[in-house]
Amino acid sequence: MEHKTIAILGAGNVGSTLGAAWAPLGHTIIYGVRDPGHERHNNAAQTARGARIVSIPDAARQADLIVLAVSWESVPKVLQECGGLDGKILIDVTNPLSFENDTIALTKGFNTSGGEDVQRLVPKAHVFKTLNQVSFTVMGQTSGYPTKPVMFVAGNSAPHKSQVLSLVSQLGFDARDAGPIESCRFLEPYAMLALEQYVKHGADSSHAFTFTKRQQEEEIVEYIAYQLTQHTPDAFLASYTTACQFLDSAPQCLGYELTQCADDANRFILRICWQSAPAHLEGFRKGPHFPPFLAAIKEYTPEITQMCHYLPTPLVRVK
Ligand SMILES: NC(=O)c1ccc[n+]([C@@H]2O[C@H](COP(=O)([O-])OP(=O)(O)OC[C@H]3O[C@@H](n4cnc5c(N)ncnc54)[C@H](OP(=O)(O)O)[C@@H]3O)[C@@H](O)[C@H]2O)c1
Repeated sequence: MEHKTIAILGAGNVGSTLGAAWAPLGHTIIYGVRDPGHERHNNAAQTARGARIVSIPDAARQADLIVLAVSWESVPKVLQECGGLDGKILIDVTNPLSFENDTIALTKGFNTSGGEDVQRLVPKAHVFKTLNQVSFTVMGQTSGYPTKPVMFVAGNSAPHKSQVLSLVSQLGFDARDAGPIESCRFLEPYAMLALEQYVKHGADSSHAFTFTKRQQEEEIVEYIAYQLTQHTPDAFLASYTTACQFLDSAPQCLGYELTQCADDANRFILRICWQSAPAHLEGFRKGPHFPPFLAAIKEYTPEITQMCHYLPTPLVRVK
């Protein structure tokens, strides 16, 4: 892991949490604050392993990677103090919120966003919006979740995005590219959704979002072997011609093959591929296609000599 020097502008809840999380990984943290001598910053300096606390312009000058973790209303002033930030990476964790009459509201949306405003204010910086989507409580401890909390990253510069994704991953998030800076129009309302859950719906601040995929169910093969003792092969084939129409219609059935023994015409093996064992046993067997399927071949069931599910092994070759 490459160790970076990270200037964090703002040593409040988010800034100090991020500094305390990145410093033990070997990154050097410099805090940029408006009042560097004030003792309220001592704790942030300590928990980020002796981070320096300097003025905002000094911090911005001393790093190529800057985190903007100040209140939304102070963003224009803070960025102006920094100068252009040309060529630097700016990780914007802010949310364009207003707090009026005890109501929290998102002040941007639909056709612009706070992240786009930030990019306009420092057009030559590589701005990325991330770490805005959940409470700082989650940023400080991403362990203990059944699935990694997700954190999206939006920004334009593809060559720099991997560095940002890596820093976010190092915090323990499932870091995902959300596209260009315009995607902040989705990420900021998403933060608002989390905030509403924390403030109005009783979710404690450790709640995080996840972005998960259904686990792939394992395809399964069923083999049914017949030894005909009471029916002729022709009658059997005619019955299965009817029955197979219901396999054709069942979505759980991926295919089948009925083979007749070349040495003994009374022996058959039916191979049926199912989406999964539950798809067969719960989906097909309890669905509408099973009763007519069974009705067509029921009289042959006493002649079954084997009926089992088989799992694929790595040994397979189709030539
Ligand atoms: N809290 C969260 O869980 C959370 C989660 C995601 C994103 N965010 C966003 O992250 C940002 C920081 O949130 P926070 O919770 O860390 O806020 P916070 O604890 O209130 O800290 C705000 C920081 O902004 C600085 N600041 C305020 N006005 C300033 C000015 N005029 N000039 C320079 N610095 C100024 C403060 O500096 P002083 O110490 O000098 O006052 C402080 O360091 C906000 O934009 C918020 O929307 C917050």
